[in-house]
Amino acid sequence: MRTNENTLLEGHNVVLVPYNASHVPRYHEWMKSPELQQLTASEPLTLEQEYDMQKSWREDDDKCTFIILDKQQWADPSSREEQCMVGDVNIFLTDPSDPSLAELEIMIAEPSYRGKGIGKEVTNMMMSYGVNKLRVKKFEAKIGLNNEVSIAMFKKMHFQEVSVCPVFREVTLLLTVDDSVRTRLQDDTAHVKERDYRLTCSNRHELLSQ
Ligand SMILES: CC(C)(COP(=O)(O)OP(=O)(O)OC[C@H]1O[C@@H](n2cnc3c(N)ncnc32)[C@H](O)[C@@H]1OP(=O)(O)O)[C@@H](O)C(=O)NCCC(=O)NCCS
Repeated sequence: MRTNENTLLEGHNVVLVPYNASHVPRYHEWMKSPELQQLTASEPLTLEQEYDMQKSWREDDDKCTFIILDKQQWADPSSREEQCMVGDVNIFLTDPSDPSLAELEIMIAEPSYRGKGIGKEVTNMMMSYGVNKLRVKKFEAKIGLNNEVSIAMFKKMHFQEVSVCPVFREVTLLLTVDDSVRTRLQDDTAHVKERDYRLTCSNRHELLSQ
C-alpha cells in the first residue's frame, strides 16, 4: 500500500523502512535458503518475480510491508542500506469484507539476529502501526506446525490458537485487539518514533545522537 511508502519507524534496535526496489536483490538472496522457504512456507521466485512482488506490496491497498534494518548499522551513513537488512514484516488485509482483520507475517532472515528480542520488538511495532494507522482489530498468524520458535513467540505475545489445518500442516493463532491489548501495545511501543523516511535517509547519524 501507499500509506507507508515514506514512513520510517524507529525502535530500540531496529528501524522499519518501506520495501523498495533497492532491497529486492538481498531479499531474493535470502529466499534462496531452503530453511527460510520451509519456515515461511514460501516458494522460491525468480528475481523478476521478486521485483513484481515488491511492486504489488507497494501498490495494492491490502498489503503493507516494512524492511527491518539494524539501527546501529544504518545510523552510520557509510553503510549501504542493503547491508543493514535483517528481515521483513508484513500485514495483509485478507478479507475484503472485513478490513479490520489482518494476517501478520515476520521474518528475521539473518540467523545471527534471531533470539535477541528483535522478533518481539518488530511484531509490537507492526501491531501498533496496524492498530493506529490501519484500524486493525484482529491479527491472525498462520504458522507451520514445525516452526516452534514462531509459535512460541506469538503465544508469548498473547495470540491464541484457533485452528490447526492438517493438510497444510499449519496452525492459526488469533489476537483480538481489546483495551488490554491496546494498553500493552502503547506501553511496549511508547519509545517508537515515526519519521519521514526520505528526510531521515539524509540525516541517518541523528538517530544515535539523541
Ligand atoms: C520466529 C522469529 C520471527 C522470532 O524472532 P526472534 O527475534 O528470533 O525472537 P525473539 O528473540 O524476539 O524471541 C521472542 C520469543 O520467541 C521464542 N523464542 C525465541 N527463540 C527461541 C528458541 N530458540 N526456542 C524456543 N523459543 C524461542 C520465545 O518465546 C521468545 O520470547 P522470550 O525471549 O521472552 O522467551 C524469527 O526467529 C524468524 O524470523 N525465524 C525465521 C523465519 C520464521 O520462522 N518466520 C516466521 C514465519 S511464521
